[in-house]
Amino acid sequence: MRILVINGPNINFLGIREPGIYGEENYAQLCSMIQEHCSGKGIEVSLYQSNHEGDLVDAIQGAYGKYDGIVINPAAYTHTSVAILDAAKAVSIPTVEVHISDVTKREAFRQVSYIRQACVKTIMGHGFNGYLEAIDFLAENYGNRS
Ligand code: DQA
Repeated sequence: MRILVINGPNINFLGIREPGIYGEENYAQLCSMIQEHCSGKGIEVSLYQSNHEGDLVDAIQGAYGKYDGIVINPAAYTHTSVAILDAAKAVSIPTVEVHISDVTKREAFRQVSYIRQACVKTIMGHGFNGYLEAIDFLAENYGNRS
């Protein structure tokens, strides 16, 4: 199974940004954790991060015909981006929405998620582990299909 993990703005600043909310581990550590998890399960994984909305749209479009699942943390664009939602709908690849923090316990403006409409599952508040749970969910439910 081929999975693309996409992270949005400021996720490259993990470890620096608000460690009380997002933890002290950095983006490189998140990537290694995901890669190790996948290599043990025979899952081919690619990781992509951008601070730019259009680049995230391009990454989702680029997944078409190449990946069997997407794990996405659109970060702040979760709460604003119709373009990212439309891209996820367009490619129609099983997609899991992940948030490191539990956004339901945070500000009112974080209570809207555009991407959720295009997702088969949402995992939030489980820290970095949420990405691994999302990968396992995709492997269990959408693996071995091609
Ligand atoms: C986040 C939550 C978003 O509200 C925020 O803008 C982020 C990260 C999370 O992983 O908890 O940048 O998606």
